[in-house]
Amino acid sequence: MFKVLLRKNKRIVETYYKGRFIAAAFFGNSIHPQRFLLYMKVLPYTMVEYERLANAYEVAQLAEKNKIAGAFVECGVWKGGAAALMAHAAKEAKSRRKIWLFDSFEGLPEPTKEDGLQARAYASDRDSGRLASIQKCVGPLEDVQRLFFSVLQLNAEDIYFGKGWFQDVLPREKQNVGEIAVLRLDADWYESTKCALENLYDNVVPGGYILIDDYGHWEGCKKAVDEFLSSRNIKANLQRVDYAGVYFQKQ
Ligand SMILES: C[S@@+](CC[C@H](N)C(=O)[O-])C[C@H]1O[C@@H](n2cnc3c(N)ncnc32)[C@H](O)[C@@H]1O
Repeated sequence: MFKVLLRKNKRIVETYYKGRFIAAAFFGNSIHPQRFLLYMKVLPYTMVEYERLANAYEVAQLAEKNKIAGAFVECGVWKGGAAALMAHAAKEAKSRRKIWLFDSFEGLPEPTKEDGLQARAYASDRDSGRLASIQKCVGPLEDVQRLFFSVLQLNAEDIYFGKGWFQDVLPREKQNVGEIAVLRLDADWYESTKCALENLYDNVVPGGYILIDDYGHWEGCKKAVDEFLSSRNIKANLQRVDYAGVYFQKQ
C-alpha cells in the first residue's frame, strides 16, 4: 500500500526521501554540525541518497588527504548535489583541483534493451506519470550554477561543464580532462555508463577511485560495469556503499 502511494504521489515521495535523508545525515553526523549543514544545502540539488552522498564526499576528502593527482569528475550530474560535495572537499583542502561535470542538462536519453524491463517501464511513464519531473531527470545548468557559485561559493575557475550527450562530448573532452583522481558515474543506463568508462577510465590515475551510483539499482549499469571490467581483465575489489552504490580503487 505504502509503495503504491509512493509511486503515485510526487509530494509523498519527496517528503519521504527528505525525511530519511535528514535523519540519516543528522544521526550519521550528530557531532558534526558543519557537515550536517553542508548536506542540508545540497539536499534540494540531488536525488542521491545519503549513504552515497557521504561516500562521494569522503572519497574526495581521502583523495585530498592522500594527494592523489587529477580532477574530480562526475558523469550524470542532474542539479549537481553529489558533485558539489566533491568540489567542496577540494575547496576545504584548498587544492584548486579541477572539477569536471558531464551531463546533457536536458535529462536522460532513452534506455536500450540492455537496460531491461524495469528501465523501459520507468521511461515509458515519464511523460505522463505523476513522477514525470523526477523520471525525466532534467537538471538545468542554471540550477547547478546556483548551487556551485551562489549557495556554496565555489571557485568558478576550477569548474568545467561538459554539456551534451556523453557520446558526443567525452571523446572530444577526455584529453582536456587529463588525469582523474575520482570518477563518479551516475548516469543510470547501460550505454551512458559504458561510454563514460570507455572514454574516461584510462584517465584515472593508479590509486584513484571509481564510484558507481547505480550498480545495484539499474541492471544496465551493472552490465556495463561488469562487461567493461571483464573486457579489460580488471579484478576490481568492489566495495558496497548501500543497496545501489559501489566503489573501487584503481590498482
Ligand atoms: C540520476 S541523475 C544524476 C544524479 C546526480 N548525480 C545527483 O547528485 O542527484 C542522471 C543524470 O545523467 C544524465 N545522463 C544520463 N545519460 C546521459 C548521457 N548519455 N549523456 C548526457 N547526460 C546523461 C541525465 O541528464 C541526468 O541528469
